[in-house]
Amino acid sequence: MHHHSDATTLAVIGAGSIGSRHAELVSQQDFCALVAICDSDPQVEAVANRCGVPFYRTLGELLCHEQPQGAIIATPSSAHADTAVACAQQGIHVLIEKPIADTLTAARRVIDAAQQTGIAVLVGHHRRHNRLLREAREVIQRGELGPLVGVSVLWAICKPTEYYDLAWRRQPPSGGPALINLIHDLDSLRFLCGEIEEVYARASSAARQLEVEDSLAISIGFANGMLGSILASDATPSPWSYEATAGENPHYFHTAENCYHILGTAGSLAFPQMEIWRYGESAQRGWQFPLTRHRLPVPRGDPLIAQLAHFCRVLNETETPLVDARDGAQSLAVALAVLESAASGRPVTVPAT
Ligand SMILES: NC(=O)c1ccc[n+]([C@@H]2O[C@H](COP(=O)([O-])OP(=O)(O)OC[C@H]3O[C@@H](n4cnc5c(N)ncnc54)[C@H](O)[C@@H]3O)[C@@H](O)[C@H]2O)c1
Repeated sequence: MHHHSDATTLAVIGAGSIGSRHAELVSQQDFCALVAICDSDPQVEAVANRCGVPFYRTLGELLCHEQPQGAIIATPSSAHADTAVACAQQGIHVLIEKPIADTLTAARRVIDAAQQTGIAVLVGHHRRHNRLLREAREVIQRGELGPLVGVSVLWAICKPTEYYDLAWRRQPPSGGPALINLIHDLDSLRFLCGEIEEVYARASSAARQLEVEDSLAISIGFANGMLGSILASDATPSPWSYEATAGENPHYFHTAENCYHILGTAGSLAFPQMEIWRYGESAQRGWQFPLTRHRLPVPRGDPLIAQLAHFCRVLNETETPLVDARDGAQSLAVALAVLESAASGRPVTVPAT
């Protein structure tokens, strides 16, 4: 493989569904270079062959032979912390797929390792690199919606049956849509609206009859007093999910609908069609008066590439991680609080990490 000599060198650890995508993206950019792939499954050697890089079965073996500047960790979530700590001890910066870990104790080990070794940790909440989400955040921060009142989130989608062939996806503690999928939306809500203080959730396994939940209803209290609600299901044909509407991943069916409605006292925003609704300049305020709809044009792009470019700038010390270990741990804390609330039937205060 030929690459620019100043390209940032990266290894991918765990090259399954998302890791193989990272490996391909890394090998396609000229600001970085893929140096090796590690995966415990020998069949994944095919991915390394396709990318033209050495393949190792264990991280120890990889670390004996290669010295990448950074590693992208895309193993199942339960292996994230051990892998990240091992990389940190070798001075290798890490981009850890979300969730940062499967427990807060494991997340804490990653935070501590980063502090002790000085390595950078970027957590793969890639949606924060999506220009749609960034623009929505700016609309809110510019005050265009006024003080926020609430947010309504629909995450309704139909996973194919074979998605659940992988055992870790259908078993606690790593499996289920709260930790695998909704953690994205919860992280985005924190990014858009501020810290989540309390959650109250009900979960159901009725549609798929698995040990993990397939559907959830979540009531959210934000630290700033704003309210939120999420209705989520991975077992229903619906066009109303981030995946279907944001159009960032060609793997999903896309449609021009909305998945979040963000409400303020001065206006409201339908996301990701980026429609702002409010009273016209001269119009009076009240339910009998017409609302105007204004659509913000936002260019779409692949946030995984934007995230990768950001990770390389973090490695070259021109930027600090947009989602560091503590921030990633806080989004995990919210997702775990959702599961705890669903299990106990009580509201749960989200601990600060
Ligand atoms: N950002 C996103 O949108 C996104 C999308 C999918 C998955 N993810 C996250 O990425 C991670 C992987 O998910 P996936 O769906 O690709 O899983 P997957 O099972 O398809 O892939 C995981 C790979 O890791 C390998 N592996 C397991 N243990 C290992 C170890 N100790 N060392 C090296 N390799 C090991 C497995 O053989 C497998 O090839 C999860 O944490 C998941 O939450 C993120």
